[in-house]
Amino acid sequence: MARFNESYLNLNQSYLFAEIRRRTKVFTDAHPDVRVIDLGVGDVTLPLPPAVIRAIHEATDDMARRETFKGYGPYVGYEFLRAEIARHDFGSRGVTLGVDEVFVSDGGKSDSANLQEIFAPDCVIALMDPVYPVYADSNVVAGRTGRADAGGRYAGIVYLPCTAENNFQPALPRRHVDLIYLCYPNNPTGAVVTREALTRWVEYARAEDAVILYDAAYEAYIVDTEVPHSIYEIDGAREVAIECRSFSKNAGFTGMRLAYTVVPKEMRGRGVDGTPMSLNTLWARRTAIKSNGPPYIIQKAAAAVYTPEGQQQVRALIDFYMENARIIGGGLAAAGFTVYGGRNAPYLWVRTPPAVSSWDFFDKVLAEAHVVGAPGAGFGPSGEGYFRLTAFGSRPQTEEAVERIKTRL
Ligand code: MLT
Repeated sequence: MARFNESYLNLNQSYLFAEIRRRTKVFTDAHPDVRVIDLGVGDVTLPLPPAVIRAIHEATDDMARRETFKGYGPYVGYEFLRAEIARHDFGSRGVTLGVDEVFVSDGGKSDSANLQEIFAPDCVIALMDPVYPVYADSNVVAGRTGRADAGGRYAGIVYLPCTAENNFQPALPRRHVDLIYLCYPNNPTGAVVTREALTRWVEYARAEDAVILYDAAYEAYIVDTEVPHSIYEIDGAREVAIECRSFSKNAGFTGMRLAYTVVPKEMRGRGVDGTPMSLNTLWARRTAIKSNGPPYIIQKAAAAVYTPEGQQQVRALIDFYMENARIIGGGLAAAGFTVYGGRNAPYLWVRTPPAVSSWDFFDKVLAEAHVVGAPGAGFGPSGEGYFRLTAFGSRPQTEEAVERIKTRL
């Protein structure tokens, strides 16, 4: 029998959202007449914008004609999309990116899981805690962390606690680290970073020769004008930061799968003998062996997001979800809960009642209000004592979920 990669056996129980799904199924199987409202995983519910749908139809027609048919695409994505990304998402904010610094992929989840693999196994990683669990899990299977203790904490990870006590802003690590995962607006806390704090991270990375993996999947939700949208708005970031973005949460592409990662040409890593090497070149090389690029039709759909009507329609989606966030935040606060987030992000981060663990609260909310959320502990040790709700539900479901939690808990 083939032996497994031991590092896979170091993973904590199941993947957070798989465990949420499992517990929900156990409950619904036992209570088939109950109508459960799912505000657990951050999955969108509104249909794709009309401009995107039209582009899908047109691209499908391209595939039906010999003259416009497309076979394998470029590994790193079509230039028509990469150019729009560089121009709209960055150029409009005064950040100049080369098209060859943009790598289009099949999702932010894959990008954030895959990026670690071009770094040495003994690189020390630091994570915001709590944060999107894929960063930790992908480093666990890469062998960087060892096994977790009973509290789910991996000795090989430098955790950067983000709690109400520090306003969900992590302190700089007290030791050297090589890779730092920052996620802003933050999933799950909804916190954003100030320009000053982000500048401190860039300065830290430059001083320590570290790399920042900056996940800006929720960038489109930023409303506060002083909050940076991209890490490249900070001087010196091009030498030390990789930025990931996604079409999932702004344009509703969770079922379409499309994202991109920016790797600036200035970024360097070291070979074993200390020779500096281009990270952009290595990431391009890695992409060439692992991908033939996302489907043409999906990339055409994404390009439609950048048309004037696409932009307007995407804005309407975001506004809709942010109204949900206001409904949840306002409703739960009025019911006496302490609620964070929901202003520059589609997540509400709720304190569980004293002495109630986040998984116990998850079970209680499911059993009594028939609402699915996400337990804070699933996002990292410092998520204990919190519970996440997403603003991505439909309006009636969102309103009903709030009402049920208010009246039944
Ligand atoms: C979440 O709920 O945290 C995310 O939607 C999960 C994901 O993006 O994979």
